[in-house]
This record gives sequence, C-alpha cells and structure tokens, in this order.
Amino acid sequence: MPVTPAKVAVLASGRGSNLAALLDAQARGELPVEFVLVGSDKADAAALRLAEAADIPTLALNPRSYPDRRAFDMDLFTRITASGAELLVLAGFMRVIDGEALRPWVGRIINIHPSLLPKYRGLHTHRRALEAGDHEHGASVHFVTAELDGGPVIAQARLTIEPGDDEQGLAERLLPLEHRLLPAVLALLASRRLRWQEGIVECDGRPLSAPLRLGQRGLE
Ligand code: GRF
Repeated sequence: MPVTPAKVAVLASGRGSNLAALLDAQARGELPVEFVLVGSDKADAAALRLAEAADIPTLALNPRSYPDRRAFDMDLFTRITASGAELLVLAGFMRVIDGEALRPWVGRIINIHPSLLPKYRGLHTHRRALEAGDHEHGASVHFVTAELDGGPVIAQARLTIEPGDDEQGLAERLLPLEHRLLPAVLALLASRRLRWQEGIVECDGRPLSAPLRLGQRGLE
C-alpha cells in the first residue's frame, strides 16, 4: 500500500545547502515527504529563494517585531501548525526555541548540528574540535528540545581530522556528509520507522542504544 507522504516544514536562517539536499533527495524519490513550508527568521536567507524556486510556500518573520522570544516562537509555531506540517526540520536555523512553543512538537522536530554531540554544542564547532586536538569530527541529527543541541542524538556522520585541516576545510569536508545524513534521518522519521516516545528513541521497534552511523550505503 503506498505510504502517504508526511507533510514537512523546514526552518533555515542561511544559505540552505541542507534544505537543497532535502529537496534533491525528495526529487530522487528517496524521501516520502511533501514540503509544505520553509520558514526563516531572516527575510534575505538564500534558503527562502531555494524554496520559492521549488514552489514551496515560504514564511519570513522578523524576531525584532515581537516583544520577546516566546512571542516570536509562539507565532512561528502557530503558522507552522496552520501549514499542515506534521514534522519539522531545523536546517541551519540559528535560534533556540522556547519550550512552551516546542511542547506539542516534541518527537516531531529534528535538527542537524555540525559536531559529534554531546561534544561542542553551540557555535564554532569545527574550530573547537581542531583546538581540542580531536582525531575525529562529524555531524549529528537529534530530536530537538528546549536545551540548545541537547536532545537525544539519532544519527551521526564521522570523518577523520587530517593534519593540515583548518576550520574552513573541515567544514567543507563535513558538509557533503551532512547532506546525506539529514535526508536519511528524515526518511526514517517520515516513514514512521523512527520515534521518540516516553524518553526512548526507537528505530524499527527497537530502542536505539547508540546513535545510528552514516556508512557508505546509508544509516547503519
Ligand atoms: C550546517 O553546518 C548545519 O549543520 C548547521 O548550520 C549549517 C547550515 O548550513 N546547523 P546550510 O544553511 O544548510 O548550508
């Protein structure tokens, strides 16, 4: 029986390369989703132009037009709900989300973060991995909570830090892995194979004891 595509909204603040990867994966038939909204806190975000080109409805809200963070988040999430979205992807959305606005969405929002969480929450992750002398770096996709980059990790992509890697080079080597990781996790969630309920992340009916890993052929 054909599966009804899950309705998905995406929030992005910047250039939108992860959004582009999601759109490409859908176009290749690898993502059983329908994108119903792309939203941003920045009217000039390139991600919004990508969405427009793909005929996806867009929304730009300016946080400075609201009295506080909660008012902005409540309005943003009211509009996301009105779009019909069932799932929400943060793809370079550079804001922490208010816990009250998040509550109805817990287990239905994922975020991609460029570090091997729980290492290096927040900004400048590539620099921090280099400064720490790490041998390995990577990206994580996790369920979103009100704690910055703090929700349960679903899957990770890893790479070895090479002598001579600098911050920019490391970011550039990691990005193609992010572009495979995020669609792969969204595909699991959209096909209802992945869920986070009562504090337990389950994939294919089994609790995840460790994050899935992105390998040559996908998530393992
Ligand atoms: C990515 O590195 C992502 O991991 C982080 O923000 C960046 C967004 O890049 N959360 P893009 O806008 O998707 O190109």
